[in-house]
Amino acid sequence: MSEARTLVFEIFRYNPQDPDTAPHIQRFEMREEPHLTLYLALNYIRENLDPSLQFDFACRSAVCGSCAMIVNGRPVLACRTRTADLANTIRLQPLPVFELIGDLSVDTGRWFRGMAEKVEAWIHSNEPFDPSAPEERMEDELARTIYESERCIECGCCVAGCGVALTRDDFVGPAGLNRIARFMLDPRDQREDAEWFEVVSSDEGVFGCIGLMACQDVCPKELPLLEVHAYLRRKMLLSKAPDLLKNISARRKESAPKTPS
Ligand code: SF4
Ligand code: SF4
Ligand code: FES
Repeated sequence: MSEARTLVFEIFRYNPQDPDTAPHIQRFEMREEPHLTLYLALNYIRENLDPSLQFDFACRSAVCGSCAMIVNGRPVLACRTRTADLANTIRLQPLPVFELIGDLSVDTGRWFRGMAEKVEAWIHSNEPFDPSAPEERMEDELARTIYESERCIECGCCVAGCGVALTRDDFVGPAGLNRIARFMLDPRDQREDAEWFEVVSSDEGVFGCIGLMACQDVCPKELPLLEVHAYLRRKMLLSKAPDLLKNISARRKESAPKTPS
């Protein structure tokens, strides 16, 4: 039987509330146990080596989204990451883009709330609310597609892995684009394509995305983000197709050679 490894954790430490501290990396060592996850390792470190270490966990089963962090340069859910799948030295850093609370803990909630307000992520309907009305029916296929988008656990991995979100605060990010598509697909949402165009079609929306698909690669729930982006691009182009055709035909007329009178 092979000997248990000694794992070296290089952990980002910083408390933004304490002006006397500076960001730095702290090393911790521990023996690897069978079936060790980063959740268990971080708890071991906090309980035995440094009680001040900050990190977030709630469900421990890839459901709540709170334990996302950068592990050896890649955004992942720490609760479902086994040390056996990693090298001896494991570097842990907080997700970028989100506000740092301390060490490995970030405030994803504020970012997701801001994004939801920006894209108005709720059903827009002019129908008066009738609590006694029977539930509206929906095609199974459509309900399944909407459910796919709803599987997002708001962990922030896709946002942290997105080069555009890293450089632009106003970009709604892959999770925002996914949320927009969810409401655009929903027949109960009465927003017209033209209204969506204002929200989605600028650099802050789908046309800001450079399409390298890091978001889909790192999504722990394997959401089909590539399909979501393609759907949004198609919808936006089609919603403006009549205007585009009108402009093209006007330009053609202007540039057509004049017939001598
Ligand atoms: S495909 Fe678009 S949204 Fe996804 S990571 Fe790349 S730039 Fe960001
Ligand atoms: S789309 Fe995936 S990676 Fe992005 S927040 Fe949702 S679950 Fe996390
Ligand atoms: S602790 Fe909930 S997703 Fe990891």
